[in-house]
Amino acid sequence: MKLITAVVQPSALEPVKTALAEVGIAGMTILDAKGHGTQTGKVEVYRSQRVKVDFLPKIYIEMVVTDEVLDDALHAIQDAARTGAIGDGKIWVTDVLQVIRVRTGETGPTAIHVAPHSN
Ligand SMILES: Nc1ncnc2c1ncn2[C@@H]1O[C@H](COP(=O)(O)OP(=O)(O)OP(=O)(O)O)[C@@H](O)[C@H]1O
Ligand SMILES: [Mg+2]
Repeated sequence: MKLITAVVQPSALEPVKTALAEVGIAGMTILDAKGHGTQTGKVEVYRSQRVKVDFLPKIYIEMVVTDEVLDDALHAIQDAARTGAIGDGKIWVTDVLQVIRVRTGETGPTAIHVAPHSN
């Protein structure tokens, strides 16, 4: 089991959600975030003023997936979020030790993707 964390442009959220649904991934948590990557202290023109941009709005997405769908999920996110411009985002992967579906008590991979008797 893996945790995928993706920090992407806000405009990429809907395309990423759709792409993940197409590979069978539904469970995720999103947060509004601010961040910067390698272009720290970039100077941008904003309302005719040159302003130093420390942090820009991003969407922070977390999803726990089974090892089987990991590669499909990573490709789906990349393809949906890429415009080719700087700041398109970053994705990283972390090992997950345990997952528990609270309603059923299921643990491990069966607690991730298919919820029996769910509506
Ligand atoms: N090393 C990092 N650790 C944690 N978060 C990061 C890291 N790098 C980037 N992020 C997060 O990802 C967002 C998007 O990063 P970004 O796409 O700007 O990466 P980059 O490496 O600067 O690539 P690019 O040159 O394409 O802009 C950042 O705003 C920040 O929130
Ligand atoms: Mg950057």
